[in-house]
Amino acid sequence: MPTTSDTTKFTLPTIFVIFGITGDLVKKKILKALYNLYLKKHLPEKFRIYGFSRRDYDDFKLKSYLRDIMEKGKYEQSDKYDTFFEEFFYVKGDFFEKSAYEHLAKTLGHIDGQWSICTNKLFYLAVPPTAYSDIITNLHATGLTIPCSPEEGWTRVILEKPFGTNLQNAIDLDRQLGELFKEEQIYRVDHYLGKETVKNILVFRFSNSFLTPVWNKEYIEQIEVRLMEDIKVETRGEFYDKVGTLRDVGQNHMLQLLALFLMKAPKSLDAQEIKSCRSEALKSLQIMSPQEVARQTKRAQYKGYTSEKGVDPHSETETYFHIQATSSLPEFEGVPLILESGKAQSAPCIEVVVSFKESDLCLYAFPGKQRNKLHYHLKPDEKISMRFLAKKPGFSNEVEQHELGFDYHAAYDAAEFVDDYEGLLYDIIKGDQTLFVSTDEIISEWKFIEPIIKTWHEDKKPELEIY
Ligand code: BG6
Repeated sequence: MPTTSDTTKFTLPTIFVIFGITGDLVKKKILKALYNLYLKKHLPEKFRIYGFSRRDYDDFKLKSYLRDIMEKGKYEQSDKYDTFFEEFFYVKGDFFEKSAYEHLAKTLGHIDGQWSICTNKLFYLAVPPTAYSDIITNLHATGLTIPCSPEEGWTRVILEKPFGTNLQNAIDLDRQLGELFKEEQIYRVDHYLGKETVKNILVFRFSNSFLTPVWNKEYIEQIEVRLMEDIKVETRGEFYDKVGTLRDVGQNHMLQLLALFLMKAPKSLDAQEIKSCRSEALKSLQIMSPQEVARQTKRAQYKGYTSEKGVDPHSETETYFHIQATSSLPEFEGVPLILESGKAQSAPCIEVVVSFKESDLCLYAFPGKQRNKLHYHLKPDEKISMRFLAKKPGFSNEVEQHELGFDYHAAYDAAEFVDDYEGLLYDIIKGDQTLFVSTDEIISEWKFIEPIIKTWHEDKKPELEIY
């Protein structure tokens, strides 16, 4: 995993082809990540970026479009914008037309000729998932993704969530990917895995020996994963209405977080080993029957959601859910695993809370529950805190609750933090698959989610509440 002091130098020329260069993801995340890597000199020494999109742009128009985003976003060191843009080029094309890819192949072949080397090529699909199948088919058909060798002139494909819209769809997409590419060429992004605090979970769990003996059902009472946002659906009404909260953040980010808290200690830092430990944890989630879904889940919609732009006025899409799950891992059998997420909440709060059982040995009276709780905060703060009991000073044995804490931002300088997409892009160039999601993980996530969505929509159970 990269750190800011990681000084891997990428000497082989690399071409980035970004499908959907004029889309939302580039605007919100990818451009900034590329620029930061550029400023930190973490991009390959020789690189070039081709933006592929349908819009009637040319190189100049693309650069001024991107410049505008950077200026509005107040990206630092504006005197470096121009040199950064020197390697940006535009390819106009329809994702669904093979001829556009033939043109792209010719252009890239020309660069390889000019630079007298088989360049590395990275294809970023920053597009709606409905376009995935056509893009990967065309990339393959035009030979664009055929690598020269695994070390030199590699080709990699990057896909964003959602990976499919249901289990079958995800299986089909994966089968297609598997037919066209080798697994080591495929990078499935779940940007939560790239967050500093999330990257720390395994370090925290497996470098601190005091946690090891208590990390099981004997000591842990429940684990809660919470992703509460104060924002509503904003401009994404049309997309969101087809998806809902469970598919939008539950099927991916939240289950990945849960897996990191449930998984066994990996035997090494090898990417495959870590992914297979995460996958084992996800596979262990017990699939719910319709009766369990009715009993153990809640779904709700915020008031006013059906008047949002792009939303069906009769929509039953959830903008909030609460699920009580369980795992069949022997260490966690019977431990409630709570997943809760919602839009339009009073305040943002993204956290994982591990509650420990009450101690049989505790002889001291304490009003209320005496639980120790480990709070792993991702938003708005990035910190870890542990709730514990202490004796109040004085003659009596009165007990009070206090907190031990570690705040990431108080401990480290802002410049030391690496943004999620920045770190992930760096890993892709480096060829480190650790923070990317495997096909097994995705299938297990869908297997767990699908019966819940089915009962919600087909049996209408439990009823949709309004908040
Ligand atoms: C995205 C979802 O994947 O994650 C959004 O589509 C959600 O609806 C976002 O708001 C949350 O990510 P972050 O990084 O802002 O916490």
